[in-house]
Amino acid sequence: MLKLAFVTIITVFTAFFAIDLKKTEKQPSPVEETAEKNYQTYCAGCHGGKMDAFVDRKWKYGNTKENLYKSIKTGYADGGMPAFEKSFSDKEIKDLADYILKGIKNVDRYTSSEKPLSDTFKTEESTVKLVNVFSGAKVPWGIAFLPDQKMLVTDRSGELYLVNENKQSEKVLGVPEVRASGQGGLMDVVLHPDFAKNNIIYLSYSKPKEGDSKMQTTAILKAVLKGNQLENAKDIFVAEPYSTTRHHYGSRLVFGKDGYLYFSVGERGNEKGNPQNIKNDLGKVHRIKDDGSIPADNPFANKSEGQKTIYSYGHRNPQGMALNPYTGELWSNEHGPRGGDEINIHVKGANYGWPVVSYGINYNGTTFTELTTKPGIEAPIHYWIPSIAPSGMAFVNSKIYKGWEGNLMVGSLRFEYLNRCVIKNKKVVKEELLFKNIGRVREVRMAPDGYLYIGVEGKGVFKIVPVS
Ligand code: HEC
Repeated sequence: MLKLAFVTIITVFTAFFAIDLKKTEKQPSPVEETAEKNYQTYCAGCHGGKMDAFVDRKWKYGNTKENLYKSIKTGYADGGMPAFEKSFSDKEIKDLADYILKGIKNVDRYTSSEKPLSDTFKTEESTVKLVNVFSGAKVPWGIAFLPDQKMLVTDRSGELYLVNENKQSEKVLGVPEVRASGQGGLMDVVLHPDFAKNNIIYLSYSKPKEGDSKMQTTAILKAVLKGNQLENAKDIFVAEPYSTTRHHYGSRLVFGKDGYLYFSVGERGNEKGNPQNIKNDLGKVHRIKDDGSIPADNPFANKSEGQKTIYSYGHRNPQGMALNPYTGELWSNEHGPRGGDEINIHVKGANYGWPVVSYGINYNGTTFTELTTKPGIEAPIHYWIPSIAPSGMAFVNSKIYKGWEGNLMVGSLRFEYLNRCVIKNKKVVKEELLFKNIGRVREVRMAPDGYLYIGVEGKGVFKIVPVS
């Protein structure tokens, strides 16, 4: 089973990098093959099936060839790292060090010293320009487009802005108090599907517990937008329990094809207690009706146990969600631990495995679990090692961009670019890194006018306009 998983991983990786390596591709040498085999036999049990997991390691003893050689040879008995001087020859240890060094180079694929020199970018398919349409928000977490060309932009600090097509903005009044700290604050915004008739919007935010300065949770607010004022504001969902941590709020909001509101709630940093526990709301994707009531066919709606709003569980921190406009499926991405960031397609009632199954590794470099797949657990359709820290995402379903139609765009917080994913048969078959070092790309949205917009931390909101 485990062996099969490794083979699968290696196959996936080979296919993945084949795209970039086509020209220089060569068969691994017998030395590399032996090192790889030794790694799988002697190291993978503790360090994970893919030595790429070393990519995101905070090195304690250094990562030069000499450092690695010493670590492997003498081990660190007190730290739990065995010595391998008796198992391997000097040469075998050096080969293993080379093997790890090669693996950690995978991060170079994403890092680049290239700085944007102008607002115009040549991409593989065309040349596009980034036009700034709003610069008022420090962390533009969520964007929603109104029928009258205006847009709503949340700033994580707690402000909601109404922006017109001339870049003029006003603050919306009546926004709830948020705990803008850590990863929390005012987060996503979405319009009711009938907004043109009822002016209803939804906001997700980190809600402080009343009378308690240490506890907060993810909440969803429903309100009517009248001019620049929120009226009849009411929480229609407050995730239980509140937590003292200030991260992993999840918080993406998406209306499904069924007219129900889907949203993510992260596990708030408690992976042991929350994602697999169906009796609380954390580490879940939920589904509710537009008024907060429960759809009768929710997985736990009629069960004696389990939160009735749960749609899927076993999640870590989904910060990107989008409705696939071609299939109607709900897609999401979520942050894995130090690598193993995932793209998932949501199946009603399914378990996405965190922390039972993961491609990532613990921050101390040991694996959470040796399992990358398991019966009864939904596998991601794609994962990133190293972690790109994915955020907002959107499908391009307009003809405005040459060669991009049907692609999935994902913002990277960590490497500060927009990730273009070409999708075939529910697989990411190719990726392109756009706008390298533009800044942390927090939000990605398709507007009704067929243009893509991105929210970049510290810079604001940009419209992507093709120029050739
Ligand atoms: C029994 C579990 C276990 C096995 C098997 C194991 N390691 Fe380790 N390894 C660890 C632990 C735990 C640490 C961290 C030690 C510490 O923090 O002092 C570590 C540390 C290391 C480091 C140093 C990392 C740093 O931060 O500087 C290297 C390199 C390393 N291991 C490589 C290997 C290789 C290569 C193999 C296989 C030949 C291997 N390990 C097998 C548990 C293991």
